[in-house]
Amino acid sequence: MDVLKIRKDFPMLDNKIMQGHPLVYFDNAATSLKPNQVINAINDYYKNYTSNVHRGDYDLAAFADKNYELARTTVAKFIHANDNEIVFTSGTTASLNLVAHGYALTHLHENDEILLNEAEHASNILPWYDICKQTKAVVKFIPLDDEGKVTPKAFLECINEHTKILSIAQISNVLGYEVDLKEIIRIAHEHQIIVVVDGAQSAPHIPVNVKDLDCDFFCFSAHKMCGPTGVGVLYGKYNLLEETSSTLLGGGMNAKFDRCGNILYKKPPFKFEGGTPAIEGAIGLKAAIDYLNQIGMENIKKYEQELKQYAISKLKELDNVEIYNANSTSGIIAFNIKDVFCQDAGTYFNSLGIAVRSGHHCAKILPDYLHVTGTVRASFYFYNTKEEIDIFVEACKHGGDFLDAFFK
Ligand SMILES: Cc1ncc(COP(=O)(O)O)c(C=O)c1O
Repeated sequence: MDVLKIRKDFPMLDNKIMQGHPLVYFDNAATSLKPNQVINAINDYYKNYTSNVHRGDYDLAAFADKNYELARTTVAKFIHANDNEIVFTSGTTASLNLVAHGYALTHLHENDEILLNEAEHASNILPWYDICKQTKAVVKFIPLDDEGKVTPKAFLECINEHTKILSIAQISNVLGYEVDLKEIIRIAHEHQIIVVVDGAQSAPHIPVNVKDLDCDFFCFSAHKMCGPTGVGVLYGKYNLLEETSSTLLGGGMNAKFDRCGNILYKKPPFKFEGGTPAIEGAIGLKAAIDYLNQIGMENIKKYEQELKQYAISKLKELDNVEIYNANSTSGIIAFNIKDVFCQDAGTYFNSLGIAVRSGHHCAKILPDYLHVTGTVRASFYFYNTKEEIDIFVEACKHGGDFLDAFFK
């Protein structure tokens, strides 16, 4: 992988200065940077063939249709699904909400149990709380092990005859552990449990094969994988999508209706895509996937693991840094500078041109488990370099000087 060549594709990496320092962008778990290939594809739609999809009978509209549906095919191939199992949404949050409100709401009953864990993102907890309020089902949390991981054994021990749904991140967004999803899904299906996967932090970084995993639903966002904001994906097994109700009703998703209230919805995936979709979003996502495929998802995974190991080995030499996930394989490091509040540390890193995230990262139950008020999170992507990590580690060495950031 030629990282220096790759970096030239990203305008944000072209001598961008923050606080008088070259930008070191280590907030990729929040959102990734976008390459020219994606920006150009979006521009091309706006400049050369703007028109709505699934509505017009003229050439431009047909061309937009073709590209929008080509994006669906590209997404399907990327995760080894069928085209008609790919629903475009506005992102992971919308996809999880669609499963909760479109599927779970009509399938769960009083005392049914939904299994989550304490490391989950708000988007994979709050929709389920809402479903519980409406159905009187209950949320239960699978205990994390000593490192903060969900193991198949812990999952198995939580299952009882009431367990109906497991919703779980393939890679958690703070500690970055990848769960043994295949084994967990095997166990779940032995007990007729539906498995919803939050792939927001996995689809951008590792190869995903939904057929091999055998998951029932899989959700992810374009903006964390070099694509635009405002677009994401819900994969669902086709029979489950057929059983899922549309939650966004309007134009584009119905086949016909009349004044008596008789309505015929389209088949999945179209019945979920009410209203004008993020057309340029889908087109941008296609360009992002083409770009990632060109680099190779296995190469991306390997390189990020290398970056993570390099950073951990350097940080371990410092006695003022506490690391919470040294052993997770993905390119996420959750840490604190000892005796420095995480948000003060974030401000300090900013003063050196380093973009990291601090706080609870939307996983608001996890800090209790870690016994901290919050953490600093540095998250890498395939365009980051060891030289950037050296700058970051050097900054960590002086993390106690954070007040300099305020009085500069
Ligand atoms: C694990 C996880 N799930 C869900 C989300 C929500 O994604 P989005 O804001 O793109 O809907 C995120 C975003 O940070 C995430 O990291």
